[in-house]
Amino acid sequence: MSDLEFILFLVPPILAVLTILNLFKRKHKFQNLPPGDMGWPFLGETIGYLRPYSATTIGDFMQDHISRYGKIFKSNLFGEPTIVSADAGLNRYILQNEGRLFECNYPRSIGGILGKWSMLVQVGQMHRDMRMISLNFLSNARLRNQLLSEVEKHTVLVLGPWKQDSVVCAQDEAKKFTFNFMAEHIMSLQPGNPETEKLKKEYITFMKGVVSAPLNFPGTAYRKALQSRSTILGFIERKMEERRKEMNRNENDLLGWVLKNSNLSKEQILDLLLSLLFAGHETSSVAIALSIFFLESCPAAVQRLTEEHLEISRAKKQSGETELNWDDYKKMEFTQCVINETLRLGNVVRFLHRKAVKDVRYKGYDIPCGWKVLPVISAAHLDPSLFDRPHDFDPWRWQNAEESPSGKGGIPGTSSTTKSSNNFMPFGGGPRLCAGSELAKLEMAIFIHYLVLNFHWKLAAPDQAFAYPYVDFPNALPITIQHRSSNKLNHHIPTPNSSY
Ligand code: HEM
Ligand SMILES: *[C@@H]1O[C@H](CO)[C@@H](O)[C@H](O)[C@H]1NC(C)=O
Ligand SMILES: *[C@@H]1O[C@H](CO)[C@@H](O)[C@H](O)[C@H]1NC(C)=O
Repeated sequence: MSDLEFILFLVPPILAVLTILNLFKRKHKFQNLPPGDMGWPFLGETIGYLRPYSATTIGDFMQDHISRYGKIFKSNLFGEPTIVSADAGLNRYILQNEGRLFECNYPRSIGGILGKWSMLVQVGQMHRDMRMISLNFLSNARLRNQLLSEVEKHTVLVLGPWKQDSVVCAQDEAKKFTFNFMAEHIMSLQPGNPETEKLKKEYITFMKGVVSAPLNFPGTAYRKALQSRSTILGFIERKMEERRKEMNRNENDLLGWVLKNSNLSKEQILDLLLSLLFAGHETSSVAIALSIFFLESCPAAVQRLTEEHLEISRAKKQSGETELNWDDYKKMEFTQCVINETLRLGNVVRFLHRKAVKDVRYKGYDIPCGWKVLPVISAAHLDPSLFDRPHDFDPWRWQNAEESPSGKGGIPGTSSTTKSSNNFMPFGGGPRLCAGSELAKLEMAIFIHYLVLNFHWKLAAPDQAFAYPYVDFPNALPITIQHRSSNKLNHHIPTPNSSY
């Protein structure tokens, strides 16, 4: 046997030993994975995780797993090994270390349908560029000077036709409101216009696919949604061409703005517009429906809201103004408590999709590089150690202690105020914090203003919010409408002259 042959003969066993050592090392390195059950091969525990449950709870799956394993556990979800976190501290840590230790990682089906350029799936520089465009477009100056009055206009358009003793589906009405507003804001589509209505229809099909299983076969919701996606994109593209031809470009909408102020390609603009329509419409409409639902069973909060808005309305009457302005909005303090409480208890967005891009150690647990990480942001909001009686709708918990019947909201001299607002993350956090959070709160406040000043409402049939895990009212929240018997209101809804 020559030296060479001898060496060649030795290579395989040495490699084998090295591999085993390496495996051992890796195993050793990750010996402190969080506890948990990896479930069935491939499917893992996905079915249990996605089983619908009441939106004001964390659901049986989380409940069982947290009591068995604690707030951080491992599982196998969406076909990947996953760390699930119901731990507020870890959730904050994940969101704040975006791009360093963790990275946004939505399932491929979401990218397939929202588009590969959607800012919800983009990471790194491209994400930062697109985010900058969205933030510019949703800036405080624009909210004050332009969006407030557009929000007001669309609120009145939706609430105006509500008739005495009629039953309306509050969720559908809220969707109409946010869709019309976003469509006008993004590409100047007018409510009631046939092309707007057509787009709305396509969009509904599209939405069904976003939340369905990503099975691309004829007849599936996902396949139909992909078709709707191309119809919608074709529509936006035509708008873009029209806009390019116009001499006098309208830069008041997002389309005009990106055409002028960015170097994005056509594909990028299409995906950006579609994702903004999606991000801005689905979420805030559900939030509005949730507030209508929670307030219906909390007359004391409606009473307090009515006082607040009557006062604003009276002051406007005295000064002879009609349209709401930023100062009026800033006076809606209790309304902000109702908004926070609605988002805390209703949890429009329940969890986020992330991936570890480095080996991470947290509170003694190992999170291996490449594993999926799901921060369940809703879990902290319903955690009795962070919020007193977390299942009660109690807007007062957000006020100062004098009026606070419960909640670790604001007892002077304790640090609990910061404790709970630190753990309150309905809009996510870190470099991907919701770009539309201020707009969403503005939409809710203005809608609530006109709602409480003009109507009483009662559930017309039983309904409640479910997490599928996207939040939805199975019966679209039917309510019976009564007009408030008060002609003294300045801020009653003007009779719609141009109905649509
Ligand atoms: C109550 C209503 C809303 C809730 C609860 C909500 C929640 C969220 C959450 C949790 C995220 C973070 C996603 C992640 O980190 O993976 C997010 C991102 C985002 N939201 Fe909202 N959102 C709402 C309304 C809106 C509105 C009205 C708009 C605007 C038009 C909007 C635009 C966006 C955008 C553009 C992002 C992506 C930000 C980025 O990746 O940098 N959202 N939203
Ligand atoms: C777009 O590209 C041009 C030339 O490449 C550059 O001068 C301009 O600053 C860019 N604009 C933006 C918003 O990136
Ligand atoms: C609502 O929550 C936010 C945190 O998202 C906090 O900054 C704000 O002060 C809260 N509002 C009220 C009225 O407590």
